[in-house]
Amino acid sequence: MNALLHAHSGLRYVVLVLLLAAIATAYSKWQGAHTDDSKLYSFALISAHIQLLLGLILYVMSPKVDFSLISDRLYRFFTLEHSLMMLIAIVLITVGRVRSRKVEGAAKHRTVLYFYVLALVLILIAIPWPFRDLGAGWF
Ligand code: HEM
Repeated sequence: MNALLHAHSGLRYVVLVLLLAAIATAYSKWQGAHTDDSKLYSFALISAHIQLLLGLILYVMSPKVDFSLISDRLYRFFTLEHSLMMLIAIVLITVGRVRSRKVEGAAKHRTVLYFYVLALVLILIAIPWPFRDLGAGWF
């Protein structure tokens, strides 16, 4: 459980870096009217899916997931807010990637850009950053 939690916590930075790199690539390829694909789009998707897998295991094991304590801010955050927002963000990344594969030309990169930016905003909001006082650290 401890190892899993550390993996889930540290992987956040991998997801964030890959998402940012994919977004920057999508923007420049869209502006440059490039038509080729980028592996970064898939790498970001894969990192998000690994995070989802770890998150689902934590969801079953974590003492911070408890519907009977939902009136408490900390339990509500992990039971509902964090998990649901992350799930939506990962669905957005998946839909963005799948759609981008179906369209040709610069629209491919615009699709990735819109979906990934939206997902990034959700992820940044849903991370239990230390300054939010939810008992989680930087790593
Ligand atoms: C990109 C997606 C995600 C990111 C970046 C992320 C990030 C994090 C971080 C930073 C923590 C705090 C770890 C700590 O206390 O050191 C955490 C905890 C947690 N996450 Fe996620 N998470 C993601 C997706 C998910 C998903 C999809 C679920 C569930 C379906 C989930 C379930 C949990 C649970 C239950 C905890 C609390 C574990 C505990 O402290 O007992 N996460 N997450």
